[in-house]
Amino acid sequence: MNTAQFISSPISKTISATSFTWRTPSNIALVKYWGKYGAQLPKNPSISFTLNACFTLTTLEIVKLEKKEKEVSFEIFFEGKKEPSFKPKIASFFKKIEAYVPFIFDYKFVIKSRNSFPHSSGIASSASGMSALALCIMSLEKALNPAISKTYFNRKASFLARLGSGSASRSIEGPVVLWGKYKKIAGSSDVYAIPLPNKIHENFKNYHDTILLVDKGQKQVSSTVGHDLMHAHPYAANRFEQAFENVEILSKILETGNLKAFINLVEHEALTLHAMMMTSNPYFILMKPNTLQIINKIWDYRAATNSNICFTLDAGANVHVLYPEKEKEKTIAFIQDNLLVYCENNQYICDRLGLGAKPMSVK
Ligand code: PMV
Repeated sequence: MNTAQFISSPISKTISATSFTWRTPSNIALVKYWGKYGAQLPKNPSISFTLNACFTLTTLEIVKLEKKEKEVSFEIFFEGKKEPSFKPKIASFFKKIEAYVPFIFDYKFVIKSRNSFPHSSGIASSASGMSALALCIMSLEKALNPAISKTYFNRKASFLARLGSGSASRSIEGPVVLWGKYKKIAGSSDVYAIPLPNKIHENFKNYHDTILLVDKGQKQVSSTVGHDLMHAHPYAANRFEQAFENVEILSKILETGNLKAFINLVEHEALTLHAMMMTSNPYFILMKPNTLQIINKIWDYRAATNSNICFTLDAGANVHVLYPEKEKEKTIAFIQDNLLVYCENNQYICDRLGLGAKPMSVK
């Protein structure tokens, strides 16, 4: 694991004032990451679909300080309002990345962020939020050191984002991303994510993810606590081994376009993630009765129509309904007629596979 490659080289250039804006997507894991060690390193590799409609838009305003500060100096605005409650999380992120981007002590930052999805919708904003901030910092590094390559830029953005939130490492590029070292996949790494190098079959082009907002309440268990519970988990070793195998199987499925095999693997992964939570100690059930109603309706519909609809779950009660572009009309009609009754205020978000983060105005 070569992390020294991400320490920025000495910089002589300075910039008096500028700003960078990035639009960065959320992502949904198909093979799940659940269990970590050390500096946010994954116990197993994971594969995700990069999303498109669920994103964070972050502007980083930058002004050169007269004198270097000991702590990174910043303010944060969320959805137009000053949000001091977000400061501790961002301050701890800056602490984790400072050794790799020491130039941050030379500037004062104003962070202005908003999400495309409703706040407290139960959709984790840490992946899109942390990756957006990491990309803005990388834009500053690129402005100070224009020689850095695109590959280095993306890898380091993923590396920095990972230190904020593991799954954020998968929100830089698209459409399918792998995070975690897997010896059979060249270029894979525990310290940053890469686009899955395999060819992706046409069947997965524009794949849809309709997110059903079952429960918008506060999570019962933070992901940090959840990951920690895997340390003493009686089934952890088998689970990690299985995830390694599933990375290999899924990467082949994505290449061959076998949708039935995809459905089986993705649903099995989702339920395994929840089984890990249910069998940790303390134990948690993050699904709600309506989560199970939706899953059963999906299974009934699939059995009756031979549709390729399937579901996956995050660490919460919301359901991500996945289906191919070809089945779009029929599936949306099915969702609207049969599944929305199980959503809080009938709320859902139509998303699909995306290509990764976009710079909005790099000066
Ligand atoms: O990135 P974290 O630490 O919030 O962990 C996310 C874990 C899951 O969303 C449950 C699974 C995953 O791989 O994204």
